[in-house]
Parts: sequence; C-alpha cells; structure tokens
Amino acid sequence: MAFSLVSILLSIALAWYVGYIINQLTSRNSKRPPIVFHWIPFVGSAVAYGMDPYVFFRECRAKYGDVFTFVCMGRKMTAFLGVQGNDFLFNGKLADLNAEEAYSHLTTPVFGKDVVYDIPNHVFMEHKKFIKSGLGFSQFRSYVPLILNEMDAFLSTSPDFGPGKEGVADLLKTMPVMTIYTASRTLQGAEVRKGFDAGFADLYHDLDQGFSPVNFVFPWLPLPRNRRRDRAHKIMQKTYLKIIKDRRSSTENPGTDMIWTLMSCKYRDGRPLKEHEIAGMMIALLMAGQHTSAATIVWVLALLGSKPEIIEMLWEEQKRVVGENLELKFDQYKDMPLLNYVIQETLRLHPPIHSHMRKVKRDLPVPGSKIVIPANNYLLAAPGLTATEEEYFTHATDFDPKRWNDRVNEDENAEQIDYGYGLVTKGAASPYLPFGAGRHRCIGEQFAYMHLSTIISKFVHDYTWTLIGKVPNVDYSSMVALPLGPVKIAWKRRN
Ligand code: HEM
Repeated sequence: MAFSLVSILLSIALAWYVGYIINQLTSRNSKRPPIVFHWIPFVGSAVAYGMDPYVFFRECRAKYGDVFTFVCMGRKMTAFLGVQGNDFLFNGKLADLNAEEAYSHLTTPVFGKDVVYDIPNHVFMEHKKFIKSGLGFSQFRSYVPLILNEMDAFLSTSPDFGPGKEGVADLLKTMPVMTIYTASRTLQGAEVRKGFDAGFADLYHDLDQGFSPVNFVFPWLPLPRNRRRDRAHKIMQKTYLKIIKDRRSSTENPGTDMIWTLMSCKYRDGRPLKEHEIAGMMIALLMAGQHTSAATIVWVLALLGSKPEIIEMLWEEQKRVVGENLELKFDQYKDMPLLNYVIQETLRLHPPIHSHMRKVKRDLPVPGSKIVIPANNYLLAAPGLTATEEEYFTHATDFDPKRWNDRVNEDENAEQIDYGYGLVTKGAASPYLPFGAGRHRCIGEQFAYMHLSTIISKFVHDYTWTLIGKVPNVDYSSMVALPLGPVKIAWKRRN
C-alpha cells in the first residue's frame, strides 16, 4: 500500500517534471522575455550565474539576445544587457522599479530599521543628501593626512610589510584590514577607529556574514551566522548610540567626520535625525565603503604589480606634483591624471558590483521590441559587461590606464537631474558605470577616489612591487568581485 502511494507520488512528480522541461522547450510567448533553459526547477541557472555571471550573460545573450529571464533560486530574474539595459534599470521610474524590495531582506538585518531600504525612497533620498553633505572637499582635505598616518602605523607593524627592505605581502589578507582602519578613522571618527583595535573587527566580521549569498536567497533561515549577525548589529548599534550621546554631552568642538555631520542634520520639516537612524546610517556606510574600496585596492595593487612600468610612471607623476617627500594634499589629486586613470581603469575591468537588481512593479515594455517584462520579476543590469566589450573599449580586457587620456568625458555635457540628494548626470546609457546612475547612484565616489588615491600614492612613494604569478581570476562567491586568492606581491622599499 505504502509502496504504491510512493510510486503514485513519484509518477506525479516525474510527469510534472517532464511537463516542466517540455514547457521550456516548446512554449515561447513572443511578448515575454525568453526563458533560459534549465534542468533543475527552483535552482534554475543559479550555479552558472553564481560561478561567473559575465560568462553566463555572454552565453545567454548569444542564444536569446539582450533581454532574457533566468530562474535563480526561485526568483525570476530578467536580465537586460547592453547600454540600453543600463539606462532602463538605472533611470527607471520609482513606480516601475523598486530597489527596496530587491535588497531590503538582505540589508535591513545588517544596517537596522529606518534606514536605506527599510524606509520610503523619498526619505532615503533625504538621508543621501545628509550623507553627501559630510562628503565634501573640506572633509577630504583633513582625511588625507589621517589616512597616511593610519597607513604608516599599519604598514610598519604588519607581518607582511614591516620595517624590512623587501618582502612578500598577501594583498587579500592585508588590504581589507588597512581599508577598514583608514575608512573608519576618517568617515567614522576616532572612537570607532579605536574600536577596531578592541574587538570591533570580530563584530564587523559577524555583521558582514549577513551579506552572504545564502542570505540573499533564504533570508529567513535560522542559521547560526544570522544569530551572530543580529547580535553584532545590536552591539554595534549600541556603540554608535553611546558615541552620539557622549558627543552630545561633551564640550568638544564638532569634528569633520560623518557622525558629527549627521548629528547636525535636519529633515525638511525641521526634525533632527534620530539617534538610531544615525547609527544605522553609519553601519551602512561602513559596509558600503569597505567592501567596494577594499576589493578595488587589491585589484589596483595586483594590476600595477603585473605592469610595474606603470608604478614608475606614477612615481614620476608624484614627484612632479608632490615632490619626493610625501606631503600629499587632497587638492593635488586633480593634477595627477595617471593616478585617476589607474583607478578608473581598475573599476572598468573589475567593478565590485556585477549585478544591479530592481523588483518590477508593473508590466514594462522593452523599448523598440514587442517584449514586455512582467511585473514581479526582478530586473537585472550588468554595466560591468559593457565596460569590457570591444565595441566600446579597444583591447577591452587589457589593463591600460592611459586609454582614458584619449576618451571624451561623457559626463561633461550629459543631462542632469536631482532625485533629492543633489544633481547627478542621467548618463545611464554609458557603457562605463561603476558607480551606477540615477536615484540610487553612489554618493561615495569622491570619497572612494580620495581614499584610493591616498593609499596608492603612499604605496608608490614607499615601495616598488611585482605581482607573484599571473593576474588572478575573479571570485564571484562573495558579494563583491574579489580576486581569487592568494594574491601576493613581492615588494622592495624605495630608497
Ligand atoms: C550606491 C559602487 C564606494 C555609499 C552605489 C552603487 C554602485 C556603487 C554601483 C549603485 C547601486 C545600485 O544602483 O544598485 C561603489 C564603488 C565604490 C563605492 C565601485 C568604491 C570603489 C562607496 C563609498 C560609500 C558608498 C565609499 C560611502 C561613503 C553608497 C551609497 C549608495 C551607493 C549610500 C546609494 C545606494 C542607493 O541609493 O540605493 N555604490 N560604491 N559607496 N554607494 Fe557606493
């Protein structure tokens, strides 16, 4: 009896499965994006996409064109590739495309309530305006020497660098630590930086684990790492709340860091920011800036190590603008084009974020075609793909910072728009968008450039180095595109 029940159930499952496969092969609705063929329901194309999204996108585009839907752990993701797809996603209307519903399940447990994607978009835009007001040139001028001091302290005591004349350093191990020390000292202030010497690093790590791909798919799973994430969030939030309270009750002059800035910000209706909102925004900033900048600096140093002649060109540029002593000033960076190009080129080849997603809120016709992207799918754009295409960049896979010398700045004459946090160029039909575009555009770009420029300048001033082995492949298993480790350089101290 039990046997026949099992065989009935198995037969039903098999029939359903055969139907599922036949349906994929035979039914094609010309008004819907084509569906990427997959053998395993629910999982769909998750493995191919997760292993190398760009290879997956290229293969799918060859078969299905620029717009196609793939199943990824139960979600229907509609990729819209190419510059048109970049524009469609980044400049989509708020009523049509929603970032909150695409990301909130992942970000809210990490950042906390009432910030980022846990609030209506117009409030978040106001928060972005507040944060932007703390990311001005006057702050950056004070940050450059702070970063250099932090780097001196870190490099002189690091087992990978230290006081010797030469050595081997593991970039994947050292750079994320150095990035967090320098970013926390500048943006977050002295108290938070001190915290990283006293246990903050473990908390940060636990919180960071909340950003793993498994949480993207199954945010509700009662995993031990999610309990550690929630505990870390509570402790970090308490720490920020205490810093804010202590600062409010002290007679100290306000400094230049972001906590001070946010403490003085007021909503349009005159209300000050609540303390837990400031805490959540600070955690979000720590996360937003850390991963992207740490991944970028690892790539920069690795790529430069693969072409040490560019390190020497940077050194010549530095000597010309700054001199031989490293008395760097923020205002000098505008006179150091090669330094800028090195960052630009690294972000072209290795933008930290490969996929941008939005929940589709109503059926959306694809301009110039019959295809309609159905409501409730997730729209995906991948500007990193266009940034490495021969159509837009000759010898597209070469690391060639000088190529930017000849390129017209597409932003210069581009149309501008204000989503509530200042003017940004619309320019989303560009093949190169490492900082996104539109209402969700990055507001940390200039901070990131200042931060990265200072770190690179210090390295170029103190060391020469070569990459050990070949330029690494990309590890897509984390939330940002890191190089597959280990990534080691052999360095020598400059005389
Ligand atoms: C948004 C990239 C550094 C704060 C974004 C977006 C991208 C990006 C592509 C748009 C996301 C989307 O539309 O889905 C980068 C890169 C960085 C970097 C490549 C460094 C190399 C930073 C830093 C901060 C920061 C240092 C903070 C100080 C933000 C914020 C948003 C954002 C607040 C807005 C999110 C939204 O509106 O939904 N970033 N970022 N980023 N980034 Fe960055």
